Amino acid sequence: MADGSLKPNVLICGVNTYSRALAAFLVPLEGEPLVSHLRIVDKYSVVPATTYLGAEFPKVLAKPQVDYKQANLTVPSIVHSIFDPPEGKGPYDYVFDLTGEVRHDRTEMILINTTCNVARMLGQEAAERKVKAYVRFTLPFYETTSKGTHDEKDDPKPDGTIGIWWHETLRMLAAIEDLNLVILRVGFVYGPYVEFGDITSAITVGSVYGYLKKPMKSVWSPGKNPTNTLHVEDLAGAAWASAQWIARLGRKEADILAGESIIFRNDKSKVSQVEGMPPHDKKLIAPLFNLVDDSNSTLLSVGQTVTSFFGTTFDFFNLGERTMYKFMDDAVEDINEHHVGGWTQMIQSSNPPIPNTPLSAYMDKYALEKHIVAFSNTKIKEVIGYNLKRPQFNHDGIKEIVDKWKEEGSWPIL
Ligand SMILES: *[C@@H]1O[C@H](CO)[C@@H](O)[C@H](O)[C@H]1NC(C)=O
Ligand SMILES: *[C@@H]1O[C@H](CO)[C@@H](O)[C@H](O)[C@H]1NC(C)=O
Repeated sequence: MADGSLKPNVLICGVNTYSRALAAFLVPLEGEPLVSHLRIVDKYSVVPATTYLGAEFPKVLAKPQVDYKQANLTVPSIVHSIFDPPEGKGPYDYVFDLTGEVRHDRTEMILINTTCNVARMLGQEAAERKVKAYVRFTLPFYETTSKGTHDEKDDPKPDGTIGIWWHETLRMLAAIEDLNLVILRVGFVYGPYVEFGDITSAITVGSVYGYLKKPMKSVWSPGKNPTNTLHVEDLAGAAWASAQWIARLGRKEADILAGESIIFRNDKSKVSQVEGMPPHDKKLIAPLFNLVDDSNSTLLSVGQTVTSFFGTTFDFFNLGERTMYKFMDDAVEDINEHHVGGWTQMIQSSNPPIPNTPLSAYMDKYALEKHIVAFSNTKIKEVIGYNLKRPQFNHDGIKEIVDKWKEEGSWPIL
């Protein structure tokens, strides 16, 4: 490995979502870095920032081990070039693939170009360069059943167009034989500086109802509705553990120990239309692990934890109201009117003032839809031996998040 040391050189692709926390885990502000060199690549500029970075990440970027490259990963020659390490550094040992379009209003064509193609090109390049570990994250764009074991043998249904193409991406990567691939299928991720996703949205909206001293109500009936959660620190820790695991074993051995069939979940007619899409009947195996905490979080438990933190309660609309909200498109604006107004009031009343914040109380159609995501986390504990650092979604976790947002000026101080 590089510089005669035993620490690996690492490449993280994508800066949105969770990679900032992963970077801070690999090169902590205090203490020894786990890597010899870390490169982070995405389309955004970081100086000046063209996306939210949070207060901590610029300090990570300033560390001598870290190099940021602004690059368009949809271009094959650029994908090739980012794998060339800086002068004097050895080749990349581990790649963490956090690319992929996370917006639900994107067309199929955009999803294919920016989710499937980017990952496929990265995977092919990583295989050619004999990268020792390639860890791909897949987000909870699935609907699982309330029954079943929820383990990796379950075949959850990809949720919508975004789910179909995120899942197809896994098949494309699994098809690259020499790629030292591990797939981590995460739950709903939350944590400091995570400005994206359902839990962040629930925390922001919950604070508004606390401020308004009104119960926060769900449009869905009380039921199990699992929405399993994961702290971003465990996303980072498990990513690292997974990379070390496959780097020791290689793909063939890892497939034997943890390979799962990545089942075709697309329209057969797409196979001939989409470049690099494996045939529908091709049996594809790759090491796959669910990654969620031990909370068994549900809509109700998340709602109760969040609202009780902000001094209010979680409730459900009655049947009549729920029937009304079946017509979701109209309901979205209706529901938002309340809490968006409240959040604006909170921001405007803050002292010191908040010039801008990445947080919004607006819940889009996806955030208001019902999601059922239940994953068992037994396999990663048993096969990789990963121990969760933040097993429970609780008030301490929410407090840490809100305190850090207050400190950086993203959250109202009233
Ligand atoms: C990236 O490259 C593609 C293909 O050339 C282009 O369509 C797209 O606009 C580029 N994106 C950015 C952010 O420059
Ligand atoms: C997707 O990529 C194809 C092939 O490079 C290109 O022709 C098309 O314009 C792209 N579409 C979008 C929406 O980015």
